[in-house]
Amino acid sequence: MRGIVTRIALGGALCIAVGGAWSQPKLKIGFMLPYTGTYAALGTAIENGFRLRVEEAGGKLAGREIEYVKVDDESDPSKATDNINRLLSRDQVDVVVGTVHSGVAMAMAKVVRESKALLIVPNAGADAVTGAMCAPNIFRSSFSNWQPAYAMGQVAAERKHKTAVTITWKYAAGDESVGGFKEAFEKGGGKVVKELTLAFPNVEFQALLTEIAATRPDIVYAFFAGGGAVKFVKDYAGAGLNKSIPLYGPGFLTDGTLDAQGEAAQGMLTTLHYADSLNTPRDNAFRLAYAKTFKLQPDVYAVQGYDAAQLLVAGMTAVKGDITKRDEMIAAMEKTKVDSPRGAFTLGKSHNPVQDIYLRKVEGKENKVIGVAVKALADPGRGCRM
Ligand code: PHB
Repeated sequence: MRGIVTRIALGGALCIAVGGAWSQPKLKIGFMLPYTGTYAALGTAIENGFRLRVEEAGGKLAGREIEYVKVDDESDPSKATDNINRLLSRDQVDVVVGTVHSGVAMAMAKVVRESKALLIVPNAGADAVTGAMCAPNIFRSSFSNWQPAYAMGQVAAERKHKTAVTITWKYAAGDESVGGFKEAFEKGGGKVVKELTLAFPNVEFQALLTEIAATRPDIVYAFFAGGGAVKFVKDYAGAGLNKSIPLYGPGFLTDGTLDAQGEAAQGMLTTLHYADSLNTPRDNAFRLAYAKTFKLQPDVYAVQGYDAAQLLVAGMTAVKGDITKRDEMIAAMEKTKVDSPRGAFTLGKSHNPVQDIYLRKVEGKENKVIGVAVKALADPGRGCRM
C-alpha cells in the first residue's frame, strides 16, 4: 500500500515538473528604492503599486511564487553600486525594480547592463538610462526627464510667456528637466534668463527666492519632488511670489504632495503623464483598488510601480515563467501594449514609454486634467544603440 502511495506521489511530482511552472523556484524580485529621505513616500508608492498588480495576478507571475528582497537606497548615488551588487550577487535576484533618483539609477544601469538580470526603472528619469546607457535588459515604466519638461516648455511658450528663471536641485534629473523645458520654451520664442540650483536634497530656498523676486521673470520653472517639492511650493507662496510670477513645473511638483501643500499649490499648472481625474474605467478601477488596499490615494509613482509589474507580467506570461528564456521575454516586453491607468502606452526603441503628457491644474486635493499638452510624446533616446 505504502509503495503505491509513494509511486502516485512521485508520479504527481513528475507531472508537476514536466508541467512546468509549479516546479520552478520562486521568482526573486529586488526592490531598490528610497525608504528614507525626501523621496521616501515615492518609494513606498512604487512598491505598493507593484504589489497591487501582482496581487491582481493571484500573487504569482506565470505560476511562479514571488520572493521580495528590499534595499533602502537612500537616494544616495555613492552607495548605489554596492547596493545593486549586493542584490545581484548575494541575493541573486532575477529582477530589480528601482529606483527613484536619477543618479542612483545611472549607477544601477551601469552594473545591470553587464549582467543577466532584468532592470525595470519605475521612476528615475535619467535620460541616459534609455539613451546612451540603454540595453536589452533595461526597461522603464515611467518617463524620461526630458518628456514632461519638454511639454511644459511648449505650454509656456504657447501661453506667450517670454522670460523664465529655472530652479532645481543640481543633479541629473534637475539638469535634464531644465534642459527639456529650455529646449521647447526657446524654440517657441521664450528665453531662460537665469538657472538657479542648490545641492540635492537641500531645502534652504530663501536666498534663491530673493533672487527670483529681484530678477522678475514672467514665470518660474521648477523641478523638485517629494518632501522638497512640498517645502518649495509652500516657501514660494509664503514669499508672495505666486501672486505675481506663475510657478510652472513637471507634475512631480504637485503629485502626492497636495495634502501637505494645501492653499500654496492652488491653481498651479503642471505637465505629467498622469492626472487625478482621468475618469476612465481603467483608472477608476485602479484608484479604487489602490485606495481600498492601502487606505491612500494613488499618485503617479503608484501608477509607475503598477506598470513596472504589468511589464513583468507580459514578459513572464510569454515565457510561461521560464525567465531563462531571456531573449523571448525581452521581445514580449518590447511588443506589449501596457494597459496603464494613465492610458495605454507602448515602449519606444530604447524601452521608454511613448505617452501622452497631460496639462493639469491643481484644484483642491487633485491634479485635474485640463488637456493633453503633447500627444504620444516619445523620448528621442539620444545615444541609444541596441
Ligand atoms: C529623478 O531623480 O529622476 C526623479 C526623482 C523624483 C521625481 C522625478 C524624477 O519625482
